[in-house]
This record gives sequence, structure tokens and C-alpha cells, in this order.
Amino acid sequence: MTGEDLRALRERLHMTQLEFATWLNELMGRRYDKQKISRWETDRERLPREVLGALSVAALGVDRSPRRGLGITVAVALQKGGTAKTATAINLCYVLARAGNRVLLVDADSQGNATVHVGIPQTRVVELSKQGKTHYHALVGKSPLADVILSTDVPSLDLIPASIALAAAEAELYHEPTGINAMADMLAPMREVYDFIIIDCAPTLGMITSNALVAAQYLLIPCQTEAHAILGLEHLSETIAKIRRRSNPDLQILGIVPTMYSARQSQDRASLDDLQALWGQQARMFEPIPRSTVYSQAAAANSITLAGDPGAPGVETFVEIARSLMQSGGQLAQTSPAPEVTHGA
Ligand SMILES: Nc1ncnc2c1ncn2[C@@H]1O[C@H](COP(=O)(O)OP(=O)(O)O)[C@@H](O)[C@H]1O
Ligand SMILES: [Mg+2]
Repeated sequence: MTGEDLRALRERLHMTQLEFATWLNELMGRRYDKQKISRWETDRERLPREVLGALSVAALGVDRSPRRGLGITVAVALQKGGTAKTATAINLCYVLARAGNRVLLVDADSQGNATVHVGIPQTRVVELSKQGKTHYHALVGKSPLADVILSTDVPSLDLIPASIALAAAEAELYHEPTGINAMADMLAPMREVYDFIIIDCAPTLGMITSNALVAAQYLLIPCQTEAHAILGLEHLSETIAKIRRRSNPDLQILGIVPTMYSARQSQDRASLDDLQALWGQQARMFEPIPRSTVYSQAAAANSITLAGDPGAPGVETFVEIARSLMQSGGQLAQTSPAPEVTHGA
């Protein structure tokens, strides 16, 4: 990358040299100033190799105005528990944010695992719930969403935290005539702000998961390579068909992520083959995420696996999912500057 290329990239981002320095510092944890950017752009100084590396990741997603979010919404769902939905959602958010995207993680499970795993302690969650600052409060219209969104320790990753209160929204939304659209309505303004909105769903197909599927353009399905989880896909596909018919014809399956895969276990290999045979035609199958203790250790320590161990097994899969989302975003940005929310029966 020459100085001229760097300048062209910055101009595509519609940033001043100062804004670019701030953005780069956030991305890389450095303290470059605008004079430095100017020296690089005029070839008075060579771009350091690590900056080149970071810029090439960032450049993946910059063929768009950074002032307006891509607004791509992804529901991570399967009604079975323990299939690594939360692990998938938070690690995907991490990779997307590190690649320079603005990301909003929506915890849509009243167990609040995603909230805790991105670093919000349980005691704080209880406090937020008392103050009316959780997903539940925004979803049922008790609090403005702006009061609920939290920043996290990961730059460019924000969170809508969930507490046990969210369970009450199931019944409340059920009794509202347009309750199925509550999450889409709540998130609509955020699509102007964030590039990616990732919804970590609960292990049910209730009202809140249905809301997530109405709000989303893409569904990502983490599926454990075991027989019961695969059966769960059948049920989910009926729900997808219903949601498409009634509320969200644009809902697409981004793909299935086989999780907790042990290549040495013949049962896992057989399940992966079944998954491929049953679903390979209908959905993209990502590379399996291996079973590895780094995931359970990170969960026990309330942290994001890839934040602590950037080379953790399965990282390639997360990068691949992020890349396909960012490519779809590039296409969307070229064809429609302001993606619309689809709702209404
Ligand atoms: N690849 C993996 N290898 C081993 N354990 C994993 C892996 N992914 C997730 N886990 C662990 O499995 C458990 C369930 O994962 P989680 O993401 O909470 O599932 P879900 O959200 O679908 O209920 C957690 O303890 C998590 O740490
Ligand atoms: Mg979960």
C-alpha cells in the first residue's frame, strides 16, 4: 500500500486525517496522530507492517460510508440448549468488531449468558434491571433503547443486556396485536448506526425468538454434531417457513455451524454426515468448530474465547462467517443505501 493508496482508503471512509488516526487507534490500540497519517500519505514515512495488516482487514468492509451503519441483522438461533449459540454469537461479534465494524450484540435470552460473557458482571445486571435498563424494558416500551445500550471492553462492540426480566416479555408481547414486530421496531433506528446487529437467541421458539426472526435478515444456526440437535433443525425450519410467510419474506439462512465437533468421535463424524445430507442442499454448511476446552474455560471466566486466545480452534470459521456477512454488506451498500426493516403480516 503506497501513501496514495492510504489516502484513497481514508477518502473512501470519508474521514479527516484526525478522524482516521482516532479510528486506527481504536482498531489497533495505538496512539498515532494526524501528523503521522500525513507523513504516511506523502510517503515521508513507511507504513509499519502491522498497520498494513490491520488496514487490509479493515479495508474488507469500507466500501461504504462509515457514517451510516450497514444495519445487517443476524439472529443466532436453535431451540435446543447448549449448542454453542452464545459462544458463536459473542465470538462472531468480536471478529466483526475487530475488523472495524460497529457491532451491537442483542442478548435475547433471559438467562443473560451473552451479557455476562462480554464482561457485564451479574451484580451489575441486577442493578441495570432495577433501573429499567435491560432488553426487556426497551422491548416492551418501558425505557428508551438509548438508555439501555451499553458499551463493552471490546472497541466498537455495544450490548443490549438481558436479565431474567426478559422472560416476562414472552407473555406481554403475546397479548399485543403487533407483538411479533416489537424487536424489529426497537432495532430499526439502530440499523442506521451499526453495521451488524447480532441477536443471541434463547433455546426456545417462543415469542422473543420469533421476534428475533422477524427483525433479522439472516439466521445463523449453531448445531451440535449430535442426533438430537439435528432433529431440532426440522422444527426450526417450520418456524422459518411460517415467519417468511407471515412477517419477514426476506429472512435468509446464512448457514449452519456445526459446533463442539470431535473428529475422533465416530458419532460426531456420523452426525456431521447426516447434517450435510439433510441440510447441505438448503443451507450453507460452515466448517465445524472443534470441541475445545478453551471455550468452556472462557465461559467459566465470563470472557470471549477469541479475545483471550485469538488463535483458538475454530477461529477460521468465525472469520469466514464474518467475511460472508461483510461481503453481503458490501452488496447491500451498493444496491440500497438505507436497508428497510420488513415487517407487518
Ligand atoms: N467449541 C466448543 N468446545 C467445547 N465447549 C464449548 C464449545 N462451544 C461452546 N462450548 C461450551 O458449551 C456450553 C454451551 O455453550 P453455549 O454457547 O452457552 O450454548 P447455547 O447458547 O446454545 O446454550 C458452554 O459451557 C460453552 O462454554
Ligand atoms: Mg445461550
